[in-house]
Amino acid sequence: MEIEISPSIISSDLSHLYEEIKKCENAGAGSFHLDIMDGNFVDNITMGPDLIRAIRKNTNLRLDGHLMIERPDKYYESFINSGIDVLLIHYEAPININELLGRLKANNIRYGIVINPDTDVKKVFKFLDRAEILLVMSVYPGFSGQKFIESSLNNVREAREFIDKNNYKTKIEIDGGIDDKTGKLAVDAGADILVSASYIFSNIDENIKKLKSL
Ligand code: DX5
Ligand code: ZN
Repeated sequence: MEIEISPSIISSDLSHLYEEIKKCENAGAGSFHLDIMDGNFVDNITMGPDLIRAIRKNTNLRLDGHLMIERPDKYYESFINSGIDVLLIHYEAPININELLGRLKANNIRYGIVINPDTDVKKVFKFLDRAEILLVMSVYPGFSGQKFIESSLNNVREAREFIDKNNYKTKIEIDGGIDDKTGKLAVDAGADILVSASYIFSNIDENIKKLKSL
């Protein structure tokens, strides 16, 4: 199966958003990753619904919203209304995750589950039946340009085994410190989708093509 590449838009040249998006599409990106940070769940602030609406107008590729916010239960509707296709919900968010996923299911909203590098993936197995994506973090969320945490590959391997055994359709995605070397390790461990910010946007065309060919 072909590897899907999901560029993290926040590291693009936002003053040339349209051109950056088209360059990614032309190089073969399969979706876009939106890093949404509220300054509470993580120590950084990035984008909100208005910027997402602008991104939505410029692409038909799937938009995944990585919600690094304290209250995904409070804001999910405004992110859906701004054009996000799949909400990625952190297991570590200080909310009742069962209740939120119940609401998303009831409203037919597409979602995935995210785990930090120190969370044991087994804890989220029970949520994977309806999750489109399992996002395994290979850095602690907050900033791009961090070093890949190799032990997160254990979560990828265990998830691969579990998903295959149960015949789930859930895709395994990895995010943080991905380049052509760490991306290869992730693909060999069983990842289907690679997120990248700093590596891709240092040379969009060449680096997306390299990641796709791993
Ligand atoms: C980390 C974000 C990542 C990050 C990736 O908080 O979730 O998506 O921007 O950046 P790189 O690819 O530079 O590690
Ligand atoms: Zn992310």
